[in-house]
Amino acid sequence: MPSLFGGLMPKVVASAPGKVTLFGEHAIVYGYPAIVTSIDRRVYVTSEPRNDNTVKIMALDLRVPGIIVTYKDNEVVVGTDYGQSLSAVAYLNKAVEIVSEYLNVRKGVNLIVRSEMPVGAGLGTSASVSVATIVAYAKSMGYDLSPDEVASLGWRVEKEVQGIASPMDTSIATYGGILKIQATSIGKYVREKLYTETELPIVIGYVERTATTKEMVKMVKKLKERYPDLVDGIMKEIGTVTLEAEKALLKRDLEKVGELMNINHGLLDSLGVSNYRLNEIVYVARAAGALGSKLTGAGGGGAVIALAPNTQERVEVAMKLHSTMTLKTRVGVGGVAVKELEKAP
Ligand code: PMV
Repeated sequence: MPSLFGGLMPKVVASAPGKVTLFGEHAIVYGYPAIVTSIDRRVYVTSEPRNDNTVKIMALDLRVPGIIVTYKDNEVVVGTDYGQSLSAVAYLNKAVEIVSEYLNVRKGVNLIVRSEMPVGAGLGTSASVSVATIVAYAKSMGYDLSPDEVASLGWRVEKEVQGIASPMDTSIATYGGILKIQATSIGKYVREKLYTETELPIVIGYVERTATTKEMVKMVKKLKERYPDLVDGIMKEIGTVTLEAEKALLKRDLEKVGELMNINHGLLDSLGVSNYRLNEIVYVARAAGALGSKLTGAGGGGAVIALAPNTQERVEVAMKLHSTMTLKTRVGVGGVAVKELEKAP
C-alpha cells in the first residue's frame, strides 16, 4: 500500500494492552487450548518524524529510570544502560527493523515508550511494546497495517528477540478481548474470540521470578520425560478445565470460573511450576474472599490472579502483604489502537 503522506509524516501514538492467561498455560505447549485476556494496563509508543534517517528510542517509564538509545545505520548506541529497559529496547529495535523490511521503507523517527505495567512481570509487556511499535512506526510512515499483519509481524519480533515464543501475547496485544488459542501443528495456532460480556474484576499480585519462561517450560518437559503418562494426564486435565472454563465464561457463571481457576492452580502446582510465595498469595486471596485464584504464566515466581467481584479492595490488601506489587484490573479491553497527535506538516 503506498504511503498516504509521501515524504511528510504525522506524529502518532499507538497503545497496546498487557495480558494475563486465565487458563491453560503450559498445556498450550502440548497442543491444548488456553484462554488469555487483555488487561486495562497499556504500553504507549509515540512515533514522531525526524529530518534524518535516525531512529531514536526513549524509554520513559518501564519501571526503571529512563534511557536514551540511538539506532543509526543498524548500530545501537545506548546512552544509559539499566538492565530491564535495555531488554525492552531490543523489541523496539526489532519491530522497526521488521516493519522497514516488510514495507520496504525506512524513515527516521523518535520513538517514545511509556508503560503502565512493570517489565518482566509476565504481563506481556514485551508483546505490547512490539505491537504498539509496529503500528506507531508504520502509521507515522502513512501505512495502516491490518490486525492480522500486525499480529503476525509482532509474533516475528518476539520469536527473533527471544528465540522461541507462542503467539499468545502478541495476539492478545493486537486483538484485545478474551481469546481461546490452540496449536494445530508445530508453529500453527488457531485463535477464537470469546464473546462474553462478563465483567471479570481481577487482582494481580506479583513476586520476583526465579526462572525464565524458557527454563520453566524445559523443567516441565523434563518432568514429562520422567513421568510421561502422569504428566500427559495432567496436561489433558488442564485442557478439560480450560474447555469447562470457556463454557462458564460464556454463561457468566463466575462462581464456576473461580472454582476452575482453583483446579487449574492445583494442576499447575502438581507440575512443579508454583512455589511457596505464589501459593501463599493464591491462598490469602481465597481467604480474603476471592472466588478463585491461580498463578498465571510460566510460574517460578511471577504473577498470581484472583477473581474478586465485589471484594477487589479486600483481596488486594491481603495479596499486597505477600506480593512485591499488586494491581486491580479490568480484563477484555480493546487491542492495539492508534491515533494521530499532529498532522503531517
Ligand atoms: O510467563 P509467560 O507470560 O511468558 O507465559 C508462558 C506461558 C507458557 O504456556 C508457559 C509458555 C508458552 O509459550 O505458551
